[in-house]
Amino acid sequence: MKNIFEPLVKMMSLMVGLLASITLLTALLIGLVVFLFNGGSLPSINQSSDMTIAVVETQPIYRGVVPKEGMWKAPEWSTVDQEPNADDIRYGRELIANTSAYLGPNGSVRKISNGMNCQNCHLNAGTAPLGNNYSAVASTYPKIRGRSGQMEDIPKRINDCFERSLNGKALDRNSPEMIAMVAYMEWLGKDVIQGETPQGVGLYEIPFLDRAADPIKGKSVYAQHCQSCHMEDGNGMMKPDKSGYTYPPLWGDNSYNHGAGLYRMSRFAGYVKTNMPLGATFERPMLTDEESWDVAAYVNSMPRPAKDLSKDWPDISKKPIDHPFGPFSDEFSEEQHKFGPFKPIKAARETQATK
Ligand code: HEC
Ligand code: HEC
Repeated sequence: MKNIFEPLVKMMSLMVGLLASITLLTALLIGLVVFLFNGGSLPSINQSSDMTIAVVETQPIYRGVVPKEGMWKAPEWSTVDQEPNADDIRYGRELIANTSAYLGPNGSVRKISNGMNCQNCHLNAGTAPLGNNYSAVASTYPKIRGRSGQMEDIPKRINDCFERSLNGKALDRNSPEMIAMVAYMEWLGKDVIQGETPQGVGLYEIPFLDRAADPIKGKSVYAQHCQSCHMEDGNGMMKPDKSGYTYPPLWGDNSYNHGAGLYRMSRFAGYVKTNMPLGATFERPMLTDEESWDVAAYVNSMPRPAKDLSKDWPDISKKPIDHPFGPFSDEFSEEQHKFGPFKPIKAARETQATK
């Protein structure tokens, strides 16, 4: 009996052993592949002799324009469900992101604006730090604004952007669309203390240059860094179905008018420094300050829609330094108020204020 089964048992245990080692090897191989794909790295031969130095060298160097600690973060989007007006908040976000589809030239609700989306300038639906976010809207409105000389609430401020940045018409205050946008902004700012503005609010305050911003230098910045998306003629690129833009216009008939915030050089340069070319952030800016100012000078020298501004800034001493239309309460020309240099204007204002 023993002799008959002995070779069979031997062969079977050999096969089991072989199978086990194949399984083990495969598992090891899969483990290694998964480890490498998830960003793991194997020590190379020459690094392994001095691991500590290798680790120190791969520490990322932070090259942002401002510290990132304490930066405002929007509330978690999934928590909207808990709000009693969740539907309004969701519709509000949708309108900010895809304004043109609802309210643009072919808008499904009303046709009152130029085809741009609020989100083109208020990035990620107004949640991006130093991407013109809405973090301080709920906490600081209503407030008196120098441009209108009036108390402005949130609907009034939203309509300012409709009439200027979207070169369009005001939206009815009691419309479901206005109610929704206000609800969204109030939800975004719900954790900000009344009267306070969180770190990273609005736009980056880019330092002034010692010289005037130069549209000729700006033209070459534009050709190198902007033209591939916003096009040589500045008109951007429309989506094939004409519901809005893939790349929004920077000048021309469908762009913001000269009463808009971005028409001010410091607003444009600050926006671009921390947000453009697409992919730049405050943590990873792509242009120098000079390039940002110069490209602002170039873009804001090109033709765009006009707006009657005669009622703006009833108190002319409140005009921002870079508001480019007189009369002014100082001696500087419209040219200098448009392109700079701004430091002398600022210094003159400060001595005026202390007199
Ligand atoms: C062409 C760019 C652009 C577009 C498009 C745009 N805005 Fe604005 N918006 C601005 C600028 C610039 C400011 C002022 C930022 C500053 O001075 O810090 C601003 C400010 C605001 C503010 C005030 C923020 C604050 O903290 O005081 C609100 C609210 C606002 N926009 C709403 C909207 C809405 C709603 C839309 C769409 C209907 C829109 N904007 C479209 C450029 C734009
Ligand atoms: C890779 C494509 C790309 C490049 C390059 C690029 N942009 Fe943009 N830009 C966009 C897109 C897309 C938006 C709208 C963002 C959104 O809706 O989320 C935008 C928005 C803007 C806006 C606000 C909306 C408007 O139309 O007024 C300005 C101003 C702007 N870009 C300026 C520039 C400048 C200046 C440069 C060059 C320094 C530049 N961009 C380079 C894609 C680009």
